[in-house]
Amino acid sequence: MDLKGKKIVLGLSGGVACYKAAELCRALVKEGAQVQVVMTEAATHFIGTVTMQALSGRTVYLDQWDGRIPNNMAHIDLTRNADAILVAPCSADFLFKLAHGATDDLLSTLCLARPHGVPLLAAPAMNVEMWEKPPTQRNVAQLKEDGVRILGPAAGSQACGETGMGRMLEPEQLLEEVIAAFQPKVLAGKRVLITAGPTYEAIDPVRGITNLSSGKMGYAIARAAREAGAEVTLVSGPTALDVPHGVRRVDVQSARQMLDAVMDRVEGQHVFVGVAAVADWRVDNVSPHKIKKDAGGHAPELTFAQNPDILASVAATTSINGWPYCVGFAAESENLIEYGAVKREKKGIPLLVGNIGPQTFGQDENAIVLFDDSGHTALPQASKLSLARQLVSEIAKRLEKRSLLA
Ligand code: CTP
Repeated sequence: MDLKGKKIVLGLSGGVACYKAAELCRALVKEGAQVQVVMTEAATHFIGTVTMQALSGRTVYLDQWDGRIPNNMAHIDLTRNADAILVAPCSADFLFKLAHGATDDLLSTLCLARPHGVPLLAAPAMNVEMWEKPPTQRNVAQLKEDGVRILGPAAGSQACGETGMGRMLEPEQLLEEVIAAFQPKVLAGKRVLITAGPTYEAIDPVRGITNLSSGKMGYAIARAAREAGAEVTLVSGPTALDVPHGVRRVDVQSARQMLDAVMDRVEGQHVFVGVAAVADWRVDNVSPHKIKKDAGGHAPELTFAQNPDILASVAATTSINGWPYCVGFAAESENLIEYGAVKREKKGIPLLVGNIGPQTFGQDENAIVLFDDSGHTALPQASKLSLARQLVSEIAKRLEKRSLLA
Protein backbone atom coordinates (compact mmCIF):
# COMPACT_ATOMS: atom_id res chain seq x y z
CA MET A 1 0.00 0.00 0.00
CA ASP A 2 1.86 3.03 -1.33
CA LEU A 3 -0.14 5.60 0.67
CA LYS A 4 -0.21 3.81 4.00
CA GLY A 5 -0.64 6.37 6.77
CA LYS A 6 -0.67 9.35 4.41
CA LYS A 7 -3.20 12.05 5.21
CA ILE A 8 -4.71 13.47 2.06
CA VAL A 9 -7.18 16.34 1.88
CA LEU A 10 -9.37 15.68 -1.16
CA GLY A 11 -11.09 18.88 -2.29
CA LEU A 12 -14.02 18.84 -4.70
CA SER A 13 -15.08 21.95 -6.58
CA GLY A 14 -18.11 22.16 -8.85
CA GLY A 15 -18.05 20.07 -11.99
CA VAL A 16 -19.64 16.98 -13.45
CA ALA A 17 -16.30 15.17 -12.92
CA CYS A 18 -17.29 14.99 -9.23
CA TYR A 19 -18.63 11.54 -10.08
CA LYS A 20 -15.02 10.45 -10.72
CA ALA A 21 -13.94 11.89 -7.37
CA ALA A 22 -16.00 9.19 -5.63
CA GLU A 23 -13.96 6.46 -7.33
CA LEU A 24 -10.76 8.39 -6.62
CA CYS A 25 -11.62 8.65 -2.93
CA ARG A 26 -12.17 4.91 -2.79
CA ALA A 27 -8.89 4.23 -4.59
CA LEU A 28 -6.95 6.49 -2.20
CA VAL A 29 -8.47 4.75 0.82
CA LYS A 30 -7.73 1.32 -0.67
CA GLU A 31 -4.08 2.38 -1.08
CA GLY A 32 -3.92 3.09 2.67
CA ALA A 33 -4.53 6.86 2.74
CA GLN A 34 -6.61 8.67 5.33
CA VAL A 35 -8.81 10.87 3.17
CA GLN A 36 -10.41 14.07 4.44
CA VAL A 37 -12.99 15.33 1.96
CA VAL A 38 -13.76 19.05 1.73
CA MET A 39 -16.31 20.25 -0.83
CA THR A 40 -17.36 23.61 -2.20
CA GLU A 41 -21.04 24.45 -2.25
CA ALA A 42 -21.00 24.04 -6.06
CA ALA A 43 -19.63 20.47 -5.73
CA THR A 44 -22.64 19.46 -3.65
CA HIS A 45 -24.83 20.07 -6.71
CA PHE A 46 -22.96 17.28 -8.49
CA ILE A 47 -22.44 14.68 -5.76
CA GLY A 48 -23.85 14.19 -2.27
CA THR A 49 -21.83 14.58 0.90
CA VAL A 50 -23.29 11.24 2.04
CA THR A 51 -21.49 9.42 -0.77
CA MET A 52 -18.16 11.10 -0.06
CA GLN A 53 -18.54 10.57 3.68
CA ALA A 54 -19.35 6.87 3.23
CA LEU A 55 -16.35 6.35 0.93
CA SER A 56 -13.84 8.31 3.02
CA GLY A 57 -15.20 7.15 6.38
CA ARG A 58 -14.81 10.70 7.71
CA THR A 59 -17.01 13.75 8.18
CA VAL A 60 -17.16 15.86 5.04
CA TYR A 61 -16.66 19.61 5.56
CA LEU A 62 -18.14 22.35 3.40
CA ASP A 63 -18.25 25.46 5.44
CA GLN A 64 -15.68 27.68 7.09
CA TRP A 65 -18.20 28.33 9.89
CA ASP A 66 -18.89 24.65 10.63
CA GLY A 67 -19.46 24.48 14.39
CA ARG A 68 -18.32 20.84 14.56
CA ILE A 69 -14.70 22.00 14.57
CA PRO A 70 -14.26 23.06 18.22
CA ASN A 71 -11.98 26.07 17.61
CA ASN A 72 -13.87 27.10 14.46
CA MET A 73 -10.65 27.11 12.49
CA ALA A 74 -11.32 24.37 9.98
CA HIS A 75 -8.76 25.77 7.51
CA ILE A 76 -6.02 25.30 10.12
CA ASP A 77 -7.19 22.07 11.73
CA LEU A 78 -7.67 20.25 8.43
CA THR A 79 -4.27 21.15 7.01
CA ARG A 80 -1.75 21.01 9.85
CA ASN A 81 -1.32 17.22 9.66
CA ALA A 82 -1.98 16.85 5.94
CA ASP A 83 0.66 15.22 3.74
CA ALA A 84 -0.90 16.53 0.50
CA ILE A 85 -3.94 18.41 -0.77
CA LEU A 86 -5.56 17.32 -4.03
CA VAL A 87 -8.34 19.34 -5.63
CA ALA A 88 -10.21 17.04 -8.04
CA PRO A 89 -12.15 18.20 -9.87
CA CYS A 90 -10.67 21.67 -10.03
CA SER A 91 -13.12 23.92 -11.93
CA ALA A 92 -12.14 27.00 -13.95
CA ASP A 93 -13.47 29.14 -11.13
CA PHE A 94 -11.46 27.26 -8.53
CA LEU A 95 -8.26 27.57 -10.62
CA PHE A 96 -8.92 31.33 -10.63
CA LYS A 97 -9.36 31.31 -6.86
CA LEU A 98 -6.17 29.33 -6.26
CA ALA A 99 -4.18 31.54 -8.61
CA HIS A 100 -5.37 34.70 -6.84
CA GLY A 101 -5.27 33.50 -3.26
CA ALA A 102 -9.03 33.78 -2.76
CA THR A 103 -10.39 32.78 0.64
CA ASP A 104 -14.16 32.99 0.27
CA ASP A 105 -14.95 29.36 1.10
CA LEU A 106 -13.43 26.63 3.25
CA LEU A 107 -11.62 24.81 0.43
CA SER A 108 -9.88 27.89 -1.01
CA THR A 109 -9.04 29.12 2.50
CA LEU A 110 -7.43 25.84 3.52
CA CYS A 111 -5.44 25.70 0.26
CA LEU A 112 -3.98 29.12 1.07
CA ALA A 113 -3.45 28.17 4.70
CA ARG A 114 -1.59 24.94 3.92
CA PRO A 115 1.78 24.78 5.66
CA HIS A 116 4.94 25.24 3.63
CA GLY A 117 6.02 21.89 2.16
CA VAL A 118 2.53 20.40 1.87
CA PRO A 119 2.12 19.78 -1.87
CA LEU A 120 -0.98 21.12 -3.59
CA LEU A 121 -2.17 19.15 -6.61
CA ALA A 122 -5.02 20.25 -8.85
CA ALA A 123 -6.84 18.20 -11.49
CA PRO A 124 -8.61 20.64 -13.83
CA ALA A 125 -11.99 19.60 -15.28
CA MET A 126 -14.01 21.85 -17.52
CA ASN A 127 -15.39 22.44 -21.01
CA VAL A 128 -12.75 22.70 -23.74
CA GLU A 129 -13.55 26.35 -24.51
CA MET A 130 -13.23 27.28 -20.85
CA TRP A 131 -9.90 25.43 -20.63
CA GLU A 132 -8.42 27.05 -23.72
CA LYS A 133 -9.39 30.65 -22.92
CA PRO A 134 -6.49 32.97 -22.02
CA PRO A 135 -7.69 33.72 -18.45
CA THR A 136 -7.69 30.00 -17.57
CA GLN A 137 -4.31 29.47 -19.21
CA ARG A 138 -2.93 32.49 -17.33
CA ASN A 139 -4.20 31.04 -14.05
CA VAL A 140 -2.66 27.65 -14.84
CA ALA A 141 0.69 29.23 -15.73
CA GLN A 142 0.62 31.24 -12.50
CA LEU A 143 -0.19 28.17 -10.43
CA LYS A 144 2.65 26.20 -12.04
CA GLU A 145 5.00 29.04 -11.24
CA ASP A 146 3.73 28.96 -7.65
CA GLY A 147 4.67 25.27 -7.43
CA VAL A 148 1.14 23.84 -7.69
CA ARG A 149 1.14 20.55 -9.61
CA ILE A 150 -1.42 20.63 -12.38
CA LEU A 151 -2.54 17.09 -13.25
CA GLY A 152 -3.97 16.88 -16.75
CA PRO A 153 -6.48 17.60 -18.09
CA ALA A 154 -6.92 14.94 -20.77
CA ALA A 155 -8.45 15.36 -24.20
CA GLY A 156 -11.52 13.47 -25.34
CA SER A 157 -15.29 13.57 -25.43
CA GLN A 158 -16.84 15.72 -22.74
CA ALA A 159 -20.03 15.45 -20.74
CA CYS A 160 -21.30 18.60 -22.49
CA GLY A 161 -21.14 16.78 -25.84
CA GLU A 162 -18.09 18.66 -27.12
CA THR A 163 -14.65 17.19 -27.70
CA GLY A 164 -11.23 18.47 -26.65
CA MET A 165 -8.96 19.21 -23.71
CA GLY A 166 -10.63 19.56 -20.35
CA ARG A 167 -11.59 16.07 -19.20
CA MET A 168 -10.41 15.29 -15.70
CA LEU A 169 -7.80 12.52 -15.56
CA GLU A 170 -9.17 9.11 -14.64
CA PRO A 171 -9.15 8.13 -10.93
CA GLU A 172 -6.44 5.52 -11.54
CA GLN A 173 -4.19 8.13 -13.18
CA LEU A 174 -4.77 10.60 -10.35
CA LEU A 175 -3.95 7.88 -7.83
CA GLU A 176 -0.64 7.29 -9.66
CA GLU A 177 0.06 11.04 -9.51
CA VAL A 178 -0.61 11.23 -5.77
CA ILE A 179 1.66 8.23 -5.17
CA ALA A 180 4.32 9.85 -7.41
CA ALA A 181 4.17 13.03 -5.34
CA PHE A 182 5.69 11.11 -2.43
CA GLN A 183 8.55 9.54 -4.37
CA PRO A 184 12.00 11.16 -4.21
CA LYS A 185 12.80 13.07 -7.43
CA VAL A 186 16.19 11.42 -7.93
CA LEU A 187 15.95 11.55 -11.75
CA ALA A 188 14.54 15.09 -12.06
CA GLY A 189 15.46 16.58 -15.43
CA LYS A 190 16.76 13.28 -16.81
CA ARG A 191 15.55 11.49 -19.93
CA VAL A 192 15.14 7.72 -19.75
CA LEU A 193 14.53 5.32 -22.64
CA ILE A 194 13.29 1.81 -21.86
CA THR A 195 12.50 -1.28 -23.92
CA ALA A 196 9.92 -3.70 -22.53
CA GLY A 197 7.83 -6.74 -23.33
CA PRO A 198 8.42 -9.47 -25.88
CA THR A 199 9.08 -9.06 -29.57
CA TYR A 200 6.96 -10.77 -32.23
CA GLU A 201 8.66 -12.20 -35.30
CA ALA A 202 6.30 -13.06 -38.15
CA ILE A 203 6.19 -16.47 -39.83
CA ASP A 204 3.36 -15.49 -42.17
CA PRO A 205 0.64 -12.79 -42.03
CA VAL A 206 -1.24 -14.53 -39.20
CA ARG A 207 1.43 -16.43 -37.27
CA GLY A 208 4.61 -15.55 -35.49
CA ILE A 209 7.18 -16.40 -32.85
CA THR A 210 7.13 -14.60 -29.53
CA ASN A 211 7.91 -15.32 -25.87
CA LEU A 212 6.28 -15.25 -22.45
CA SER A 213 7.53 -11.82 -21.36
CA SER A 214 4.57 -9.85 -19.95
CA GLY A 215 6.33 -6.47 -19.92
CA LYS A 216 5.51 -5.98 -16.22
CA MET A 217 9.10 -5.32 -15.09
CA GLY A 218 9.82 -2.85 -17.90
CA TYR A 219 6.53 -1.01 -17.34
CA ALA A 220 7.25 -0.88 -13.58
CA ILE A 221 10.66 0.68 -14.30
CA ALA A 222 9.03 3.20 -16.65
CA ARG A 223 6.58 4.16 -13.92
CA ALA A 224 9.29 4.34 -11.24
CA ALA A 225 11.53 6.51 -13.44
CA ARG A 226 8.66 8.87 -14.16
CA GLU A 227 7.78 9.02 -10.44
CA ALA A 228 11.41 9.98 -9.85
CA GLY A 229 10.97 13.00 -12.12
CA ALA A 230 12.36 11.66 -15.41
CA GLU A 231 10.92 12.16 -18.87
CA VAL A 232 10.31 8.56 -19.93
CA THR A 233 9.93 6.91 -23.33
CA LEU A 234 8.91 3.26 -23.38
CA VAL A 235 9.47 1.27 -26.56
CA SER A 236 7.20 -1.69 -26.07
CA GLY A 237 6.59 -4.99 -27.79
CA PRO A 238 3.02 -6.37 -27.71
CA THR A 239 1.68 -6.48 -24.12
CA ALA A 240 -1.70 -6.29 -22.44
CA LEU A 241 -0.56 -3.56 -20.02
CA ASP A 242 -1.77 0.02 -19.63
CA VAL A 243 0.94 2.60 -20.19
CA PRO A 244 1.92 4.26 -16.88
CA HIS A 245 0.53 7.79 -16.66
CA GLY A 246 2.88 10.42 -18.06
CA VAL A 247 5.04 7.91 -19.93
CA ARG A 248 5.34 8.14 -23.72
CA ARG A 249 4.88 4.71 -25.30
CA VAL A 250 6.04 3.68 -28.77
CA ASP A 251 4.51 0.38 -29.92
CA VAL A 252 6.58 -2.04 -31.98
CA GLN A 253 6.42 -5.71 -32.87
CA SER A 254 9.69 -7.07 -34.23
CA ALA A 255 13.24 -6.72 -32.91
CA ARG A 256 14.22 -4.67 -35.96
CA GLN A 257 11.31 -2.27 -35.40
CA MET A 258 12.38 -2.03 -31.76
CA LEU A 259 15.95 -1.25 -32.79
CA ASP A 260 14.77 1.48 -35.20
CA ALA A 261 12.46 3.01 -32.58
CA VAL A 262 15.27 3.02 -30.02
CA MET A 263 18.00 4.37 -32.31
CA ASP A 264 15.65 7.15 -33.54
CA ARG A 265 15.24 8.33 -29.94
CA VAL A 266 18.51 7.52 -28.20
CA GLU A 267 20.20 10.86 -28.78
CA GLY A 268 19.86 13.10 -25.74
CA GLN A 269 18.88 10.26 -23.40
CA HIS A 270 20.65 10.05 -20.05
CA VAL A 271 19.71 6.45 -19.32
CA PHE A 272 18.82 3.44 -21.45
CA VAL A 273 17.31 0.36 -19.80
CA GLY A 274 16.91 -2.71 -22.01
CA VAL A 275 14.30 -4.86 -20.31
CA ALA A 276 12.65 -6.30 -23.42
CA ALA A 277 12.94 -10.01 -24.08
CA VAL A 278 14.17 -9.53 -27.62
CA ALA A 279 14.08 -12.55 -29.93
CA ASP A 280 17.65 -13.41 -30.85
CA TRP A 281 16.45 -14.86 -34.16
CA ARG A 282 13.80 -13.94 -36.71
CA VAL A 283 12.29 -15.95 -39.52
CA ASP A 284 14.22 -15.23 -42.68
CA ASN A 285 11.79 -16.80 -45.15
CA VAL A 286 8.57 -15.07 -43.97
CA SER A 287 5.71 -16.22 -46.17
CA PRO A 288 3.78 -13.32 -47.77
CA HIS A 289 0.62 -15.48 -47.63
CA LYS A 290 -0.88 -17.67 -44.94
CA ILE A 291 0.92 -21.02 -45.02
CA LYS A 292 -1.56 -23.78 -45.90
CA LYS A 293 -1.64 -27.00 -43.94
CA ASP A 294 -1.64 -29.24 -47.04
CA ALA A 295 0.78 -27.23 -49.19
CA GLY A 296 3.16 -29.67 -50.81
CA GLY A 297 2.33 -32.41 -48.30
CA HIS A 298 5.28 -31.61 -46.03
CA ALA A 299 5.91 -29.51 -42.94
CA PRO A 300 6.97 -25.93 -43.62
CA GLU A 301 10.66 -25.27 -43.25
CA LEU A 302 11.67 -22.08 -41.52
CA THR A 303 15.09 -20.54 -41.87
CA PHE A 304 16.36 -17.98 -39.39
CA ALA A 305 18.48 -14.85 -39.42
CA GLN A 306 20.08 -13.30 -36.35
CA ASN A 307 18.44 -10.18 -34.96
CA PRO A 308 20.45 -7.08 -34.08
CA ASP A 309 21.40 -6.68 -30.41
CA ILE A 310 19.62 -3.47 -29.37
CA LEU A 311 21.42 -3.08 -26.04
CA ALA A 312 24.81 -3.60 -27.65
CA SER A 313 23.93 -1.07 -30.38
CA VAL A 314 23.03 1.55 -27.76
CA ALA A 315 26.09 0.69 -25.67
CA ALA A 316 28.20 1.30 -28.78
CA THR A 317 26.85 4.88 -29.07
CA THR A 318 27.94 5.49 -25.46
CA SER A 319 31.56 5.29 -26.50
CA ILE A 320 30.98 8.38 -28.68
CA ASN A 321 29.65 10.87 -26.11
CA GLY A 322 29.50 8.97 -22.82
CA TRP A 323 25.68 8.78 -22.78
CA PRO A 324 23.31 7.12 -22.21
CA TYR A 325 24.11 5.17 -19.07
CA CYS A 326 23.21 1.62 -20.17
CA VAL A 327 21.42 -0.92 -18.03
CA GLY A 328 20.78 -4.45 -19.30
CA PHE A 329 18.70 -7.34 -18.03
CA ALA A 330 19.50 -11.02 -18.04
CA ALA A 331 17.24 -13.91 -17.19
CA GLU A 332 19.24 -17.00 -16.29
CA SER A 333 17.86 -20.38 -15.36
CA GLU A 334 21.06 -21.33 -13.43
CA ASN A 335 24.42 -19.93 -12.21
CA LEU A 336 23.03 -16.40 -12.08
CA ILE A 337 25.99 -14.86 -10.24
CA GLU A 338 28.60 -16.30 -12.58
CA TYR A 339 26.67 -15.76 -15.83
CA GLY A 340 25.50 -12.26 -14.83
CA ALA A 341 29.00 -10.93 -14.27
CA VAL A 342 30.22 -12.42 -17.54
CA LYS A 343 27.25 -11.06 -19.49
CA ARG A 344 27.79 -7.52 -18.18
CA GLU A 345 31.39 -7.58 -19.39
CA LYS A 346 30.40 -9.10 -22.72
CA LYS A 347 27.71 -6.46 -23.32
CA GLY A 348 30.10 -3.66 -22.35
CA ILE A 349 27.61 -1.98 -20.01
CA PRO A 350 28.08 -0.45 -16.53
CA LEU A 351 25.05 -2.12 -14.89
CA LEU A 352 23.32 -5.44 -15.49
CA VAL A 353 20.23 -6.67 -13.66
CA GLY A 354 20.01 -10.42 -13.34
CA ASN A 355 17.04 -12.52 -12.33
CA ILE A 356 16.19 -16.15 -12.28
CA GLY A 357 13.91 -16.80 -15.23
CA PRO A 358 11.69 -17.71 -16.84
CA GLN A 359 9.49 -18.39 -13.79
CA THR A 360 9.23 -14.64 -13.00
CA PHE A 361 7.69 -13.92 -16.41
CA GLY A 362 4.17 -12.56 -15.89
CA GLN A 363 4.46 -12.59 -12.08
CA ASP A 364 3.92 -9.49 -9.94
CA GLU A 365 7.01 -10.17 -7.84
CA ASN A 366 10.65 -10.74 -8.62
CA ALA A 367 14.08 -10.86 -6.97
CA ILE A 368 17.06 -9.31 -8.74
CA VAL A 369 20.83 -9.06 -8.51
CA LEU A 370 22.71 -5.96 -9.66
CA PHE A 371 26.08 -6.45 -11.32
CA ASP A 372 28.50 -3.56 -11.74
CA ASP A 373 32.25 -3.07 -11.80
CA SER A 374 32.48 -3.41 -8.03
CA GLY A 375 30.70 -6.78 -7.82
CA HIS A 376 27.09 -7.75 -7.23
CA THR A 377 24.26 -6.76 -4.86
CA ALA A 378 21.08 -8.77 -4.31
CA LEU A 379 17.71 -7.04 -4.00
CA PRO A 380 15.42 -9.58 -2.35
CA GLN A 381 11.95 -10.71 -3.42
CA ALA A 382 9.49 -7.82 -3.66
CA SER A 383 6.84 -6.44 -5.99
CA LYS A 384 8.17 -5.47 -9.41
CA LEU A 385 7.24 -1.83 -8.70
CA SER A 386 9.17 -1.84 -5.44
CA LEU A 387 12.22 -3.39 -7.14
CA ALA A 388 11.87 -0.88 -9.99
CA ARG A 389 11.98 2.00 -7.48
CA GLN A 390 15.07 0.52 -5.83
CA LEU A 391 16.71 0.08 -9.23
CA VAL A 392 15.91 3.68 -10.19
CA SER A 393 17.52 4.88 -6.98
CA GLU A 394 20.61 2.71 -7.68
CA ILE A 395 20.82 4.13 -11.21
CA ALA A 396 20.51 7.68 -9.85
CA LYS A 397 23.35 7.06 -7.37
CA ARG A 398 25.58 5.84 -10.17
CA LEU A 399 24.67 8.79 -12.42
CA GLU A 400 25.58 11.17 -9.65
CA LYS A 401 28.90 9.42 -9.10
CA ARG A 402 29.54 9.55 -12.83
CA SER A 403 28.93 13.27 -13.14
CA LEU A 404 31.14 13.88 -10.12
CA LEU A 405 33.86 11.90 -11.86
CA ALA A 406 33.33 13.58 -15.24
N1 CTP B 1 18.85 -7.58 -25.80
C1 CTP B 1 18.73 -6.67 -26.83
N2 CTP B 1 18.67 -7.10 -28.12
C2 CTP B 1 18.74 -8.40 -28.42
C3 CTP B 1 18.87 -9.34 -27.37
C4 CTP B 1 18.92 -8.90 -26.07
O1 CTP B 1 18.65 -5.46 -26.56
N3 CTP B 1 18.67 -8.79 -29.66
C5 CTP B 1 18.96 -7.07 -24.43
C6 CTP B 1 17.79 -7.40 -23.53
O2 CTP B 1 16.82 -6.38 -23.54
C7 CTP B 1 18.47 -7.53 -22.18
C8 CTP B 1 19.80 -8.13 -22.53
O3 CTP B 1 20.07 -7.72 -23.85
O4 CTP B 1 18.72 -6.28 -21.60
C9 CTP B 1 19.78 -9.63 -22.50
O5 CTP B 1 20.97 -10.07 -23.04
P1 CTP B 1 21.13 -11.45 -23.79
O6 CTP B 1 22.59 -11.73 -23.89
O7 CTP B 1 20.34 -11.50 -25.02
O8 CTP B 1 20.48 -12.31 -22.72
P2 CTP B 1 19.88 -13.65 -22.93
O9 CTP B 1 18.79 -13.64 -23.94
O10 CTP B 1 19.55 -14.07 -21.55
O11 CTP B 1 21.17 -14.32 -23.56
P3 CTP B 1 21.49 -15.85 -23.64
O12 CTP B 1 20.33 -16.42 -24.32
O13 CTP B 1 22.74 -15.86 -24.41
O14 CTP B 1 21.69 -16.24 -22.21
